[in-house]
Amino acid sequence: MKNAYISGTGGYVPPQVVTNQDLVDVYGIDTDDEWIQKRTGIKARRFAPEGIGPSDLALEAAKAALESAGLQATDIGMILFATLSPEHAFPGSGVLLAEKLGLCDGKATFVGAMDIRNQCSGFLYGLGTATSMVKSGACNHVLVVGAEVHSAALDLSTEGRAVASLFGDGAGAVIVSATDEDRGVRYWKCGADGRFADVLCQKVWDTRKRPFMDVGEDGYARVAPEMIWAQMDGRQVFRHAVERMCLGLMEACAATDILGDDIDLFLFHQANMRINQYIAKQMAIPEEKLVHNIDRYGNTTAATIPLLMAEAERDGRLKPGMKVACIAFGSGFTWGTAILDW
Ligand code: ACO
Repeated sequence: MKNAYISGTGGYVPPQVVTNQDLVDVYGIDTDDEWIQKRTGIKARRFAPEGIGPSDLALEAAKAALESAGLQATDIGMILFATLSPEHAFPGSGVLLAEKLGLCDGKATFVGAMDIRNQCSGFLYGLGTATSMVKSGACNHVLVVGAEVHSAALDLSTEGRAVASLFGDGAGAVIVSATDEDRGVRYWKCGADGRFADVLCQKVWDTRKRPFMDVGEDGYARVAPEMIWAQMDGRQVFRHAVERMCLGLMEACAATDILGDDIDLFLFHQANMRINQYIAKQMAIPEEKLVHNIDRYGNTTAATIPLLMAEAERDGRLKPGMKVACIAFGSGFTWGTAILDW
């Protein structure tokens, strides 16, 4: 059986920087830089301009990942697109990306494109799925993307500040490829606990209702504020994130017969610097083995880990031969862990 390894990484964030102070000055939110930094570690985030969706950000990240792998888009056997902010209810962002990559015209390959709806852990669900596809021989190269345009759906007012100050736009992509070399993804595991589905959610509509949204006589739908904007019990998320991420890491080490000390680099989901610092303290992980981007990008949800991979590789922090642990937790609740020999 072949091994599955990451042959290329790429990341992209839109150019507009929105600092914590910009939330006050530009959007009129009653918040301050100190409050946000102290509780989350976030200094700034990126917002995409109107007209740009997650598949546009994903395109840039995917092109960079293909270039770093030395591959063409036509080499891809499957697209897995993780996002909680797809352009539309349907079809998913994966097919939009396939078209933008030129895979649907001329001598097109018409490869499959699948969306993954697992929020913060979506990329690791994708990495696990891609690994299995490659190891089974179904595909030689799978493009796994995490991309979000949160800025379109944030309540950028004082009422929405608890959620709006946390999130930013961005995309990360990797190519998972087959190899005969003794390297690659050694372990992956995903988990879910739907008892907490309402703790962090953005419902928008409810298909149990008839019709699924209230439609007025003018034909326009009306959506209640608590349905439009993301709802979050931040303290519950914090508590469960710490617990699940620590447990996931211990389980991964036990399953692969390694110690925490054997891991060279930890790529934690970037929801909150305090969550990650707490986990690092509990697990005795030294700061030099961690990489962050939450300070610059906020929480880019499905994009955090592939963006970290791309940046760490570019900066020389992530090198062949390193043992890498990835771990994420988020809405659902869902979570994922992976151990890789880079
Ligand atoms: N600026 C100023 N004040 C604010 C802001 C803000 N941006 N946001 C909330 N507040 C206020 C609240 O309105 C509240 O005021 P009140 O006491 O007058 O009602 C006060 O601050 C305390 O609010 P809490 O929500 O209790 O603040 P807390 O200390 O719990 O911190 C936070 C909130 C930072 C969200 C924290 O709970 C947290 O980090 N939780 C983890 C959640 C997370 O990271 N989610 C990301 C998505 S999930 C994922 O990716 C894992």
